[in-house]
Amino acid sequence: MATIKEVAERAGVSTATVSHVINQTRFVAPSTCERVWLTMRELNYAPSAVARSLKVQTTNSIGMLVTSSTNPFFAEVVRGVERYCFSQGYNLILCNTEGNAQTASSYLQMLIRKRIDGLLVMCTDTHAGLFEQLQLQQDLPLVVMDWGPAMPHSDRIQDNSQRGGYLATRHLIELGHQQIAIITGPQDKQPALERLAGYQQALLEAKLPIDQALIGHGDFDCEGGYQAMRRLMQSPTRPTAVFACNDLMAMGAIRALQEQGLSVPHDISVIGYDNIAFAAYLNPPLTSISQPKQELGQLAVQSLLERIQQPQLPARTLRLEPDLVLRSSTAAPKPSS
Ligand code: RIB
Repeated sequence: MATIKEVAERAGVSTATVSHVINQTRFVAPSTCERVWLTMRELNYAPSAVARSLKVQTTNSIGMLVTSSTNPFFAEVVRGVERYCFSQGYNLILCNTEGNAQTASSYLQMLIRKRIDGLLVMCTDTHAGLFEQLQLQQDLPLVVMDWGPAMPHSDRIQDNSQRGGYLATRHLIELGHQQIAIITGPQDKQPALERLAGYQQALLEAKLPIDQALIGHGDFDCEGGYQAMRRLMQSPTRPTAVFACNDLMAMGAIRALQEQGLSVPHDISVIGYDNIAFAAYLNPPLTSISQPKQELGQLAVQSLLERIQQPQLPARTLRLEPDLVLRSSTAAPKPSS
């Protein structure tokens, strides 16, 4: 294991500067910080827990890195986090990474400077650099929400997305649909891959073929759902139902169908995922798979507070179970289908 002295020599700084970069106890030029972080990664250096054990007393503050998004899913989860932090006497410092790795890294250093007691991370974009930096903060209590890599000193709280994808597709099959399309989320995101797997599981269980012409790819946003639905309507196999892997893409898909003069659910059924608050007010109100968003937020804070009290807790992955919320965007296929 490299020493702080070896890191300092390789990076061309003093050991005091390396310590300031790790503990954020003094401003260090971003270029120097970057060079020191890179050197620590290259030498596989991890700060000694003792060096951090001199940390000042608790500040009753929790940091949260979240990918800001127009997607209400994230806002609804954050509401659960804020409410529970407040009920436990903690204040929340919320940082929107805007999906930018450098922003995430800068916010992380700012939060460490502020001596937060623990950190929640809900960044749906894979920030390799961020998680490598987090690996170096072994004694910062951490909970990764929604999805993200397993890390030795953190908990992960995730939706059982394969189950959710299975429930959505089984619902359509039970209505009598056999040509069921799917609009997936980005294929570099674990929830998207798991929901697709649940779709395929339900089709196989019902002995229905998996038709690649019925698999569209979206971006977890309205526009992606809209464009994917337009492409699916050109498919040689005309779908009678579509499972959009989140509610925003379902909204985009419904718009594309209505632009083509098609009625939902009379001509084609649509089911979404997340059950955001807006889903009940769409036209037609959207059948969706509900993620327990408030529970996700509360469980994340509970887990983090446990880690703050017991830093040596083993890493845990906690799964939340989705369920089906029936509304009027799904129905049996037309007799002629
Ligand atoms: O709607 C956004 C999606 O991305 C949600 O389903 C959530 O799981 C996140 O991964």
